[in-house]
Amino acid sequence: MSLQSCQLIDLPKISDPRGNLTFIEGGHHVPFPIKRVFYLYDVPGGADRGGHALRRCHQFLIAISGSFDVVVEAGSESRRFHLNRSYYGLHLPPMIWREMDNFSSGAVCLVLASECYSEDDYFRDHDQFLSAVEAGK
Ligand code: TYD
Repeated sequence: MSLQSCQLIDLPKISDPRGNLTFIEGGHHVPFPIKRVFYLYDVPGGADRGGHALRRCHQFLIAISGSFDVVVEAGSESRRFHLNRSYYGLHLPPMIWREMDNFSSGAVCLVLASECYSEDDYFRDHDQFLSAVEAGK
């Protein structure tokens, strides 16, 4: 999997003087059916999240409130994304190592996932992830 597959995707935004509205349909606005939703919140200043890659699961990350950075890596290359709006998100396909940092005060990270939670799907050891990437070439 190359880093070009990690893409920012704009979401529909219905602007309204009463407040804006954004909606997401699985398989339409995000390129996978949504099986699970989770969110990170109350992240203390200076904390890091992530630090893993997934074998099969696609994820779509949105800064629903505040901002944070996502550093993605697929073997030798890496790239940092800054997420700070609730009307776009970052699609991470499988086999992408991700680290999240630089959380603002009050940041909320919403994650849409293509699979239910399974610890078996995780690489939590970076060297094991790199070995699997090499083996898959
Ligand atoms: P973890 O993957 O370490 O969080 P992050 O990558 O965001 O830093 O998950 C923290 C804990 O929560 C870990 O024990 C697994 C558990 N967990 C679930 O039980 N279900 C889930 O859907 C997720 C994402 C995590």
